[in-house]
Amino acid sequence: MKKLLVRGARQLITLHGPKGPRRGMDTRELGLIQDGSILVSDGLVTCAGPTRRIENLAEARSAMEVDATGRVVLPGFVDCHTHLVGGVSRLADYETRIAGADYHQISEAGGGILSSIRPVRELSSKHLEWRARHDVGTMLRHGTTSIEAKSGYGLDETGELKSLRVAVALDGRPLDIVSTYLGAHAVPPEYAGRSDDYIDWICAQMLPLIHRRKLARFVDVACDGAAFNARQARRYLEAAKALDFGLRIHAEQFSHCGGIHLAVELGAASADHLVFADAADIDLLAQSGTIATLIPGAVLHLGLDRYPPARALLDRGAAVALATGFNPGTSPTLSMPMVLSLACTRMHMTPAEALTAATINAAHAVGLEDRTGSLEPGKQADLVIYDVPDYREIPYHFGVNLVHTVVKRGEIVYQRAGVKWADQ
Ligand code: NIG
Repeated sequence: MKKLLVRGARQLITLHGPKGPRRGMDTRELGLIQDGSILVSDGLVTCAGPTRRIENLAEARSAMEVDATGRVVLPGFVDCHTHLVGGVSRLADYETRIAGADYHQISEAGGGILSSIRPVRELSSKHLEWRARHDVGTMLRHGTTSIEAKSGYGLDETGELKSLRVAVALDGRPLDIVSTYLGAHAVPPEYAGRSDDYIDWICAQMLPLIHRRKLARFVDVACDGAAFNARQARRYLEAAKALDFGLRIHAEQFSHCGGIHLAVELGAASADHLVFADAADIDLLAQSGTIATLIPGAVLHLGLDRYPPARALLDRGAAVALATGFNPGTSPTLSMPMVLSLACTRMHMTPAEALTAATINAAHAVGLEDRTGSLEPGKQADLVIYDVPDYREIPYHFGVNLVHTVVKRGEIVYQRAGVKWADQ
């Protein structure tokens, strides 16, 4: 039996707590143990507690030791909204936006999502996998140990199947990857002006095919003025629900389109973005099991001022998760610590609420709550050691990667190399 003892953390944050997603004041309860240690056997957490108790356990004596003295240990982040596959950088769009054009003007001029289709259709699976693997490595170095990965840049049968296969192939190497079919991301050029026909084709052809091949656990739709209206989103999500897919939705990102209402009505696992959520939407989410997934990186990168109403969602009792939303158009970041900084500074979440949203609540948003998101006996030992003495330093030092060591299923998968002179 392979054993690991992570010993002597100044703060061990377990997120131990009630079974469901955390809401209200529970969002601030981190299960923090001062001078804590954690014992791992065969990739799973055996016990976590004060160091003086854990280090005296008989099993601890034969364990390989990782010294966390003076540092903070957290569950690995669960990045519950990423467009992992096909995220080829759109640098021309970036410069056009810096010069003053907005996201929709850029799309209308031939940039945007549609300009990402060609590379995905043309690149080989091997190349797409190589790119995605590289991004997964960067996520891991920033403390992420599980992600959700959407397709949505192929938008024809070959391109979408290729994207989903890449996500499925990378699952477990070493991150847990939950795959989502985002066929209804945009209307592809071959269906220009015929969005209803495109939705018909998806429902008749793609959903059954992806279901048969077990290539996705969830489906997602962009319910948005420039993509699909609420009627089309409903048709797509109902067809997916009939096949037992879990549901996710890009809702109220650029305007108010009714996506949240639909998400709650259909029992979606997650409604994402929510920038234009109104008071009625917030109450609906608060009374539902749908997780409110917020993506502040998309607001920052687009140079906008309006952030999702995180404070109102939390205060009304919604279950809030945070994600990078990693994609080449609105949020090309792979850093969950940066997302935490934005959540705290721009959305007025407390550091404790942001940590909960990025770990246990995010795990609930993608159906991984039984495996990860907290450091409790029986769960995977997915944990990260940070080179700081207090967890609040993580969002405080925005844009700085403070990750020291990453452990995935009990294996050390990343350890930061020291800097000559500075780290002696
Ligand atoms: O989550 N509907 C928006 N989808 C992405 C943007 C994708 C892109 O621009 O490539 C989002 O922000």
